[in-house]
Amino acid sequence: MTASEEWIDLGEAKELARDLEANGLVKEIVLKDKRIALSYRDGAFGAIGALCNHMGGPLAEGRMVGEALECPWHYWQFDRRTGEAVNAAHEPLASAGGRLPSYPLKREGDRLWIQIAGETPRVRPNYNPGHPVGRDPERAPGRLRVLALSTTVIDPAHPRYSTSEALLTSALSRAERELDVETRFLRLADLKFRHCEGFYSKSERACTWPCSITKMDPQDEMAVVYEALVHWADVVIIGTPIRWGSASSLYYKMAERLNAVQNQITLRNRVLIQKKVAALVITGGQDNIQAVAGQMLSFFGELGFTFPPFPFVAHSLGWSAEKMAANMEYVRSSEDLHQHAYELVERAVAHARVAVG
Ligand code: FES
Repeated sequence: MTASEEWIDLGEAKELARDLEANGLVKEIVLKDKRIALSYRDGAFGAIGALCNHMGGPLAEGRMVGEALECPWHYWQFDRRTGEAVNAAHEPLASAGGRLPSYPLKREGDRLWIQIAGETPRVRPNYNPGHPVGRDPERAPGRLRVLALSTTVIDPAHPRYSTSEALLTSALSRAERELDVETRFLRLADLKFRHCEGFYSKSERACTWPCSITKMDPQDEMAVVYEALVHWADVVIIGTPIRWGSASSLYYKMAERLNAVQNQITLRNRVLIQKKVAALVITGGQDNIQAVAGQMLSFFGELGFTFPPFPFVAHSLGWSAEKMAANMEYVRSSEDLHQHAYELVERAVAHARVAVG
């Protein structure tokens, strides 16, 4: 037997099986610089390459689904003995094929042996997991573009008066009339999108741009927000109510999904948000305006937005004066508040004219 045909003794089969059964049925071993996912189920061992065909996720840290190993990063699945792609979390991949290296195993007496030289070749699937929103941002020519982004939680089937939305709406329509800008109104409550599911927590490389969820789930509508913030708008005016001293839950749901944008700066020094301006409209029955504004300014600053002077307008009745029906009436009829919201947009647009040039 030549060195290349050499079989390597992995140990006593019974003990290996016991160890694997006690530890999730799969573990990674490294032999001759090869990272191998060794698995065991129903009396049969399997050995395949431990690095996923997609982005190199650690297969041995995934789970066993039937006879497949599922990558913990984005859930691609591979037959644990042949390395064949058997299934996928998303449809385009399901028929794309591909295969991981696999390694011959044999049992002699009570020992288990592996042959590295018998490695089968890795075959990458014919699948490009890109997404249109992932293109390089390039500002299209034209007038300045102002996006009003409402994060208020409203049941679209049963709309109600929202003070922050009302200020956004009036400021935006006046800006369209008076500032020679294009405008768009985006209501998060009209979009169906999933919560961030912690891809970054698995590994910073598992949190991708566009977001892993956006690429895997064609029903997820967060792409509308990415498209608007990264590609369309020069100015974004974000509206939020105050809920228990914080911005709306929908704002945080969106912010967590925007980690995919910020992550590009941290990991690749790729700044997707450039020459863009953000400003805030914050209203609520309760106080804590400065804390809400501070958190939001910090977050949008971390994404790459800049701010005009006096970057938010806010209104609150205060902790001990919650009369919500009166509050709606107050905002509806307050010329000052509507004027201040418009002036905020005006300042943001002036700032963007300098930034965009
Ligand atoms: S599914 Fe394995 S790295 Fe994405």
